[in-house]
Amino acid sequence: MLLSPRTRRSAFRFDSDKLRRTLLATGATLVVAAGLIAASPGTSFAAGPGTCDIYASNGTPCVAAHSTTRALFQAYNGNLYQVRRASDNTTRNIGVLAAGDFANAASQDSFCANTTCVITIIYDQTSRHNDLTPAPPGGVGGQDNPAPADALPVTAGGHNVYGISISGIMGYRDNSTSGIATGSQPEGMYAVMSGTHFNNRCCFDYGNAETNNLDNGNGHMDAIYFGTLCWFSPCNGAGPWIMADLENGLFQSNTGGSQNSGNTGNRNPFVTTTLKNNGTNFFALKDGNAQSGGLSTRFSGALPTSPSGYSPMRKEGAIILGIGGDNSNTAIGSFFEGAMTQGLPSDSAENQVHANVVSVGYGGPSPVAAGTLNPGSTISLRATTACCTTRYIRHQNGNAVTSVISSGSSALDKADGSWIVRRGLANNSCVSFESRNFPGDFLRHQNFQLFKQPMDGSALFRQDATFCPQAGRSGTGTSFASLNFPTRFIRHFNNTLYIASNGGSNAFDNTASWAADVSWVVSSPWTP
Ligand code: AHR
Repeated sequence: MLLSPRTRRSAFRFDSDKLRRTLLATGATLVVAAGLIAASPGTSFAAGPGTCDIYASNGTPCVAAHSTTRALFQAYNGNLYQVRRASDNTTRNIGVLAAGDFANAASQDSFCANTTCVITIIYDQTSRHNDLTPAPPGGVGGQDNPAPADALPVTAGGHNVYGISISGIMGYRDNSTSGIATGSQPEGMYAVMSGTHFNNRCCFDYGNAETNNLDNGNGHMDAIYFGTLCWFSPCNGAGPWIMADLENGLFQSNTGGSQNSGNTGNRNPFVTTTLKNNGTNFFALKDGNAQSGGLSTRFSGALPTSPSGYSPMRKEGAIILGIGGDNSNTAIGSFFEGAMTQGLPSDSAENQVHANVVSVGYGGPSPVAAGTLNPGSTISLRATTACCTTRYIRHQNGNAVTSVISSGSSALDKADGSWIVRRGLANNSCVSFESRNFPGDFLRHQNFQLFKQPMDGSALFRQDATFCPQAGRSGTGTSFASLNFPTRFIRHFNNTLYIASNGGSNAFDNTASWAADVSWVVSSPWTP
């Protein structure tokens, strides 16, 4: 129903990028790198060494190894991660297909069918049991939520597997570790992250942090950071950049900012990042496209001396993923695998580790046709009420509204009016809508109005963001029933989006043109 036209512009624009959807399907590529042969689709990877075998053979063994996609040791035949499903709160450990092989994602799929799952434990593949669980409250953020288990489908060696998609208020930690560097002990680490899913908040990290969840001062952290939070100038280009989170600072060099004008960030869908730090007077940062090529050294030199406190380091030995040392938890990002070593890895070891990652053949999920309600598809949703057939559901200043969008509209309007269909966050036979230009943000209702908000992992958010498609109530298109208010459907009323019932006390429940207002045409996306 159209009562009065309103025009609003977004107040800000997120520096977004190709979304997870744009990940390339490359699993079939045969790559020969550093003596490793890439897995072909559907074949076992068991024959080759993993990244932790490489570190070990170079004299710097892994003391932590985390991945939801594959074994990082050739001989590893244990569990990779644990999921918990919403329907009955029971858990299942997800292992590998065979020793040294990829994750058994089918086991997750069957366990989580018709419900939703979150990742409750990321197991350490070394014998040290440095397992990661949702992080406790810290100096900054509160208790972290577990990440959804199926939010980041990718392929590795042609196998369907899941990465870990971190939104705000999500992250993992282990404060009681074994073998992780403390004080000024040397260590190295690598992580495979994504250059298509990031923000400029603190702090999408993987590595060494405080054991009490607090900011204990300079030098108490030694973690990979990947994102666009430019802590020290200059930062060149648009990022995201690999930086060393050494506490109270994300360092691109020993002077803080970048000393390398060519380091403009890495936007590849899969990015290998490495950090090593000898604890006294040296650290190095590298990144590379995890699908091909080699590593680029972004910095290699002395630890910062001004400000003081970083040389020597005061490492504490906790492990964090997706958060800062004090649990700052507003960053987003994607994680596929990573490991930490005892001792300072050689450049040769790091090159071999990267080549091993490349040989995995990480790729995007199987392509899904746009303009359909299949998970992974990107769509736009057009109103069908006679007043409004050129209007589409879009977000604007965080609200969900309808706007006229046409081929001549701005790129921003088109992106705001495009959505990625996801399996329903609270019921995977329904759907959720992730913003095309704000990865990790979903369409959800609150007090019956619809908004675009960051997925916080809570049960309420999941329910509020899940809609069950059915034939259009007007006889045209598709209608979307709210999962937790099943008599209410996504409706436009005065160009604002609500979940509305056909008659009721709210103005937006008005029966006039209700059937048309809740009927939408699922169409090709304005921004593919
Ligand atoms: O060093 C950057 C961040 O600063 C750390 O991760 C966090 O502990 C502090 O807020």
